Amino acid sequence: MTSPVVLRPEIAALPAYRQGRQAAPGGFKLSSNENPYEPLPGVLEAVAAQTAINRYPDATAAALRERLGARYGLDAEQVLVGAGSVSLLQQLMLAAAGHGDEIVYPWRSFEAYPLQVAITGATSVQVPNLTDHSIDLDGLAAAVTERTRVVVVCTPNNPTGTVVDEAAFLRFMAAVPPTVLVLLDEAYAEFTDRAEAVDGVPLLARFPNLVVLRTFSKAYGLAGLRIGYALGDADLLAAARTAGIPLSVTAVAEAAAIASLEVEPELLARVAEITVRRDRLQQGLAAQGWPVPRSSANFLWLPTGAATAEIAVALLEAGYVVRAFPPEGLRISIGEAESVDGLVQSTASLVHLLPAAL
Ligand SMILES: Cc1ncc(COP(=O)(O)O)c(C=O)c1O
Repeated sequence: MTSPVVLRPEIAALPAYRQGRQAAPGGFKLSSNENPYEPLPGVLEAVAAQTAINRYPDATAAALRERLGARYGLDAEQVLVGAGSVSLLQQLMLAAAGHGDEIVYPWRSFEAYPLQVAITGATSVQVPNLTDHSIDLDGLAAAVTERTRVVVVCTPNNPTGTVVDEAAFLRFMAAVPPTVLVLLDEAYAEFTDRAEAVDGVPLLARFPNLVVLRTFSKAYGLAGLRIGYALGDADLLAAARTAGIPLSVTAVAEAAAIASLEVEPELLARVAEITVRRDRLQQGLAAQGWPVPRSSANFLWLPTGAATAEIAVALLEAGYVVRAFPPEGLRISIGEAESVDGLVQSTASLVHLLPAAL
């Protein structure tokens, strides 16, 4: 750093956000858990109809909040809309925690969490995942101290794809004091086909310290418009709203989200196709000897240990951009149908690189 300006040291020390790189022509970008399908016509029409872009949007996205509230049996005040759920995570953390406080979360999990905790000024408390790559809920509950203000739980977990069981989550909620905010990040919930997986929404009435986060970026394919939502106690969400940047959700994004809810059956049919593709890829990889945990999301986790960087580079050269987390593993997003067979061919020639002990 050459600037003479004095910065907050914890911010200056943070690595800059790294975006998944673009694929070469003819290649596939499987590094950001995006939806490979283009928007449906109804959604594009709703976007095109938003011509009054010389005006600020409705600050609370009231029409979408009403719509989501009706869908989940909640008041519109129990819904907060943000410029992506990543924005809402940040707002909720900022509302609850600052210097001297602790935020507990599983690790490895969503890359944004440690950066967001640092921005609040609070201390990160990372709880390692279990050996089967699932989140250690008992460990998360045990890590709560009198300084803890927030615990984050991610299900399905990015990047390992594992889900949290409802029974385990209820035990966890019983162990966490009601003064501690629990953020249940369900960004990939629509890809989950496991009956035992927790669904946070019906639990909101029982746990006033629980907030559920959902997004239109993944299953609904609106990543480029930046829109997500939080569900929970109205006062908590009002505080989180105060901690956010006003007017950051555009009218275009709100209209696209409402239009997506109108065409939900078509969008969910696409989600079903993606999950079939995911399971086919998982079976292909497992048959080759890759120790891939079962995924309930739109990506797979390959624990590749010390060979992670080498395998990621080899896949990149073969035309597949994946996300590497050396020295733990790599995450492959489920993309276009045409990507699957070639990917399975490429991995067949790379499986010998797996370290003997993972
Ligand atoms: C676990 C998890 N939560 C939240 C997000 C944020 O999604 P968005 O801000 O696009 O809604 C992501 C995106 O990758 C994610 O993986």
